[in-house]
Amino acid sequence: MTDVAALEFAWERAEPIPAERRQELLALPGFGDTYSDHMVTVRWQAELGWHDARVGPLAPLSLHPATMAFHYGQTVFEGLKAFWRPNGQRALFRPADHARRFNRSAPRMAMPTLPEEDFLAALEALLRADGTWVPRARGHSFYLRPFLIATETHLSNRPAEEYLFALIGSPARPAFAAEPKPMRLWAATEYIRAAPGGTGAVKCGGNYGGSYIAQQQAAANDCDQVVWLDARERRYIEEAGGSNLFFVESTTDGPRLRTPPLSGTLLAGVTRDSILRLAGWLGYPVAEEPLTLDKWEQGCRDGRITEAFACGTARAITPVGHVVSAQREWPVGNGTAGPVTSRLLEALLDIQYGRTPDEFGWMRLV
Ligand code: COI
Repeated sequence: MTDVAALEFAWERAEPIPAERRQELLALPGFGDTYSDHMVTVRWQAELGWHDARVGPLAPLSLHPATMAFHYGQTVFEGLKAFWRPNGQRALFRPADHARRFNRSAPRMAMPTLPEEDFLAALEALLRADGTWVPRARGHSFYLRPFLIATETHLSNRPAEEYLFALIGSPARPAFAAEPKPMRLWAATEYIRAAPGGTGAVKCGGNYGGSYIAQQQAAANDCDQVVWLDARERRYIEEAGGSNLFFVESTTDGPRLRTPPLSGTLLAGVTRDSILRLAGWLGYPVAEEPLTLDKWEQGCRDGRITEAFACGTARAITPVGHVVSAQREWPVGNGTAGPVTSRLLEALLDIQYGRTPDEFGWMRLV
């Protein structure tokens, strides 16, 4: 069955949360703790392809205990943001790039792809239904979470023959504060996130679940997140829990950015790609080059590495202040957000909030 784009969405209007309560929630959003009134769902079955596309009230899913996603982890997801623009419009940040990544994740998990136009139509349908949930304050956003799960009721150990695509949305707090709090990163040496040939490059639920034990270790060591090393040598830096990493090197010609290459074991972040392009635009040379944990430490100690930051949709750009491992700990720069990190963050936000022209064609108005 080939999947042709252009799903027709059936609509059922939700009883909205009262406007006053919504305003209270929008004034102080958290992350992932409040949801808008509607959700989108689309079903897939081997013989029917994609069908039964709906925009309806946000509601719990009713699933049989033998639903395959519960047992064998066939789940993939995306995370992207919509912003309120000064002209009163709403805009999605790079939704087609998220659609394409979703469609790289799904086949890796032996799941069906959703035509890009249908993915975009689902996002637009939710934003149209719940446009009043997009917070207006700079820094705030509406976080969209599309996901795909295996819904066939069966205990066989094989790819499912039925799937559910769903999309929910949630107002989100600023990805940064006026004074961004630099992260402390815990260098995971006992556990690995991804090995060559594995699922590290895709956004499947298991990559996250499998990382939490190291995140617990990080928290026990007063750290905010984990920095993952390569599986083979446990020397090369890959990514920080759920985010990509960048380093700022000091050269005689000025600052230069460096980030681990997409080796197949780390996620090709949309924010990572945006920073690579913004860096060039702002005049910073940038290299996708491996860096070992030892060289990171040495570079920080001798002043060649002056800043580091993590980046991703949810967190935008967050400075790294310290790196901690079982044996050692070192500060990055002076342990606070450096000038290159701050400049990149401002440049990204200015595009997202419509303060500067969208040179890259990243914003899709809805
Ligand atoms: C995102 O940045 O959107 C992510 O997917 C990270 C998430 C696990 C909160």
